[in-house]
Amino acid sequence: MSSPTDTAAWHALRSHSAHFREGNSRLSGLFAADPSRADMFSRQHDNLLLDFSRNYITEDTLTLLLELAREQNVPSAITSMFAGDNINSSEARPALHIALREPETNHRFPELTVALARMARLVDSIRKGDWVGYSGMPIRDVVNLGVGGSDLGPALVVSALERPNARDIAVHFVSNIDPAQLAMTLARLNPETTLFIVASKSFTTLETRHNAELCKQWLQEHCADSAATARHFVAVTTNTEAALAFGIAADNLLPMWDWVGGRFSVWSAIGLPIALRLGMDSFRQLLAGANAMDRHFQNAELADNLPVLLALLNVWYRGFFDSHSQAVVPYCERLRLLPAYLQQLSMESLGKSVDHAEQPVAMSTGEPVWGTVGTDIQHSCFQLLHQGTEFIPVDLIAIAQPTDSTNIAAHQHLLANCLSQGMALMQGHADTQQPSRAIAGNKPSNTLLLSALTPYNLGSLLALYEHKVFVQSVIWDINAFDQWGVELGKRLSQDVYAALSEGADATVLDASTARLIAAVNAWKR
Ligand code: F6P
Repeated sequence: MSSPTDTAAWHALRSHSAHFREGNSRLSGLFAADPSRADMFSRQHDNLLLDFSRNYITEDTLTLLLELAREQNVPSAITSMFAGDNINSSEARPALHIALREPETNHRFPELTVALARMARLVDSIRKGDWVGYSGMPIRDVVNLGVGGSDLGPALVVSALERPNARDIAVHFVSNIDPAQLAMTLARLNPETTLFIVASKSFTTLETRHNAELCKQWLQEHCADSAATARHFVAVTTNTEAALAFGIAADNLLPMWDWVGGRFSVWSAIGLPIALRLGMDSFRQLLAGANAMDRHFQNAELADNLPVLLALLNVWYRGFFDSHSQAVVPYCERLRLLPAYLQQLSMESLGKSVDHAEQPVAMSTGEPVWGTVGTDIQHSCFQLLHQGTEFIPVDLIAIAQPTDSTNIAAHQHLLANCLSQGMALMQGHADTQQPSRAIAGNKPSNTLLLSALTPYNLGSLLALYEHKVFVQSVIWDINAFDQWGVELGKRLSQDVYAALSEGADATVLDASTARLIAAVNAWKR
């Protein structure tokens, strides 16, 4: 592997990009020059259509970008990931989240089939009401205690797919150590009918461990029998020893594996809240949709490969147009949590500055990913996108069929707003009399259109972005699967906690932290 900046394609792209940077080729002009442009730069896989025609690309650009992918060995990197090679180089581990969604009939690891069967039995027992709590009542509420990848994926999928149905089990997500979140959740719940999922790959994450202890105390205020309260806890973790020590019953343990990264773990038993809320069939449909995208990613020619195309466009703007962030705008209320999920997926994977050879990288890598739902975002962030000085590519995501067929006209307005924003970003609006009213336009966007919001299509969409992030990491020659950067803050918080709460000497800390601690303590009194 080597830096992409050493490749012939990178140098060719550098000179080719001037063609666009100097404004010789506006997006509107590219469409005027070729009426078939929208067809040429659209690709579809299953029920997912990607229109990438509103980008700074010509056929020559695409040829050079694909050449860059080949020079950076993207095809062999894909093969290597699927083969289970230790591509997580700094931890000498594979990255085999794709194995979790391979058909159960030919799981490459027998323990995956066993784990899925255990998950299904647990889900079945709880959803049928056979699983009862300390007072003999069935479970009505499930609280997922997890953070990061142990929270964002399940929370997104549940909010995307759940149907309002009072009979169903309600699922709640608690991630933050801020006691307000847990307090607000527990205030509404009955301890007799509440199940807690301690979702933590490591079983050492402070937020999750602390919240789990508080939930144990909450239960014991109502039932002193720890054997009985153990019926209110299940755990999903690689750390069996720590889970048993916490008091999780052995039968209530669902395994994870160290070759599944946290941000790639929604497909594992971390997806338990999804199955409890929606049923195992929906969870299996989610896996099937992701598996379909996996097979597309493995088998499609690079020029037709949706994850590869999305990755190359990001690399193009990041490397040659100095983009400093990527906006993701789902025009779908049920996908409100998608930007947060993609933030962790992209920023924790690509926020790296050292390459596989442990050398400093020679170009910009991961960037902030941000966004929220349309149409809300049109009333908060789109002013900057239309008239600001930042160059920010946008992914617009829309669902053709209404999910909640309450009001078709409203859904049509939603779609109209999504498509019109892509138009406005591209064509702008001239106003030579009053420049403050002019809209520059010529701003690129991708439009991802799903036929409907189903478990299968959502699984494909999430896998699409997983593989996009992976291809970006391959082209940049960085490791997408470790996250050493999160460790320092965790370590330092222990010293600060001791100074804040145990009277430890704050002067050993830096002057700013010490002064802030003094201010906190003064205001606490
Ligand atoms: O943010 C760091 C991180 O390790 C994430 O990668 C992970 O998803 C999250 O913390 C939670 O980790 P765990 O599942 O081990 O509690």
